[in-house]
Formats: sequence, C-alpha cells, structure tokens
Amino acid sequence: MFAPKYFSGIEPKNIFCLLLFVLVVPMHIRDVLRGKIPEDLLRLVPSSFDIIGSREKAVAIVELDDALLPYKELVADAIFEVHKNVRAVYRKASERKGEYRVRELELIKGENVTEVIHMEHGYKIKLDVTKVYFSPREATERQRIASQVKPGETVMVMFAGVGPFAIAIAKKQPAVGRIIAIEINPDAYRYMVENIKINKVEHLVYPVLGDVKIEAPRFFNQCDRVVMPLPKGAYLFLDEAVNCLKETGGWIHFYHWSREEDLFTEAFRLVSEAARKRGFTAELRGARKVSPYAPRIYKVAVDVLLTK
Ligand SMILES: C[S@@+](CC[C@H](N)C(=O)[O-])C[C@H]1O[C@@H](n2cnc3c(N)ncnc32)[C@H](O)[C@@H]1O
Repeated sequence: MFAPKYFSGIEPKNIFCLLLFVLVVPMHIRDVLRGKIPEDLLRLVPSSFDIIGSREKAVAIVELDDALLPYKELVADAIFEVHKNVRAVYRKASERKGEYRVRELELIKGENVTEVIHMEHGYKIKLDVTKVYFSPREATERQRIASQVKPGETVMVMFAGVGPFAIAIAKKQPAVGRIIAIEINPDAYRYMVENIKINKVEHLVYPVLGDVKIEAPRFFNQCDRVVMPLPKGAYLFLDEAVNCLKETGGWIHFYHWSREEDLFTEAFRLVSEAARKRGFTAELRGARKVSPYAPRIYKVAVDVLLTK
C-alpha cells in the first residue's frame, strides 16, 4: 500500500486509524484561537461549554473569564468554526436566579436565536434558553433515573421544567403507569406541554402548572417514586414528596448541593428525617455527584428507598 515516508514503519491499519482520528475528533476552539488572542489567555479558554439544539440549529452558551471579555467575539467566531450547527453564541451574564432558576444571557455574536429543539437519547426537548432552565449536561442523570423505573409505576417529577425527566422516563419505560410533572414557571410549563406532544407521550405524562407545595397534595398516597431535581431547596418539599408515596413506601430521588468533604451525609439525613415522620425506614441505595456547582461544591443525587 502507498504510504508517505513519515508513515513508514507504521502498520497500514494503524495509519487508517490515525487518519480517522484526525478527521473525526473535532478541533478545539483553543486551537482556533491560538495566535489570535494573547498566548497567556489561551489557558482561560473554556474547555467545555453547552451546545443546546440539534444538528440543524443550536446555540452555544459559554462562561468567560473577565480577562477574555475583550476577545469574546473571537471566541464566538472560533465556536462557529468548530461547531457548524451553532447559530448564536451567548455568554453567561449572571448566576441562575430566582424561583425559575434562569440566568441572564448576553448574545455575543450570531442570529438572535433563543428557541431550539435539543436532541438527547432519542427524544426532543424544545425550549427557549432565555426563559427556562435546561442543562444538556444532565442527560446521563436523566437516563440513570429513567432506567430505574418499573412497569406500572406512578412517578411524580417535581420541579419538572420543560419536561426532560418526565419524557426520558416515558421513552425509556413506556410501560410506566403515569408520570405527574409539576412546574411553576408558565413558560417552562408551556414548553413541557409541547414537548409531551412532540414526543408522543401524552398518554403517559400528566403536566401540572403550579407550586409543588399547593399541587402535590392532590397526589398524596398515589406514587411509587418521586424525583426532586431542585438542588436549591428541594429539602423544603420533602414532606410533600414522602406523602406522595403510597402507604407501602417507594423511592425518592433527591438532589442537593453538598461540599466536597462530605457529599452525601446531609442529603440522606434530610430524606431520612422526612421519612421517619411518616413511619418509613429510609435506605440509601444510590449516591452520585451530578455536576460541579461552585468551587468544592457539587450537585449530588441520592436514591433512597422508603419502606414500612
Ligand atoms: C433546577 S430546574 C430543573 C428543571 C428540570 N427538572 C430539568 O432537569 O431540566 C428547577 C425547576 O423547578 C421549578 N420550580 C421551582 N420552584 C418550584 C415550585 N415550588 N413548584 C414547582 N416548580 C418549581 C423552576 O421553575 C425550574 O424550572
């Protein structure tokens, strides 16, 4: 087989693998920016950022160090060069705020696109990145929860957002009994209703607009499993979650922010204390870091089984 001189000594099949690697592994935006921004700032270029959307239309959301702000348009250009589906690059302009957990975004460059359809694990999630919470980084966590759901279960998803947990469960376990999904942000609720239709799971997911404190009591004693994806304050709704479980008990998937030194003790203690009030015994069956939140602080999940 013909091979240039610098490949001599390398097996033809390995040359093929090498070429495939070069072609398939996407270039990093840092490589594009080399020579365009000061060398000492290259290390500040984020190694990862969110791309939300599809192969046809997506937006990128980056977190930039202040030192990179004078070069933000070059960063956006680099993202456009590496990710051809990205139509707009936004910069995180605040922390997530308020009850709806939405952050301010600044459009750095591109079209004024805010509504996209995100694809993950075979389902579609439509959303406006400026109006609702959504994190593409939590796709694996959604699958972890969905894969635990058994046929016939009634599942409550509190703090349901645009519906990704509910839809992930409905798609992974189509024999589920019913999924109740409660969300307080009217924009997120509107997208959740649309996403339920887009993914053809109207017969499985029952969306509810409102505050979990007020709406959850309608479902007391009915659920086998409660998902609580609100690390900022889910603990304030633990009594409602425990009361939603059937008389015999069930599962609580509880999300919390924890310090690195002791990731799971407090989360499990909070669930156990709520469980005890209703005479349940709590057993920690799963625990994991979901994502970093701040220096040495992580969003964690605990899977707790409550029994009599
Ligand atoms: C961290 S986001 C998670 C959203 C969604 N589960 C996801 O994973 O994309 C929390 C969501 O809870 C909603 N929320 C906050 N407090 C609520 C409450 N008391 N009742 C119902 N929803 C609430 C917010 O509007 C937000 O959409």
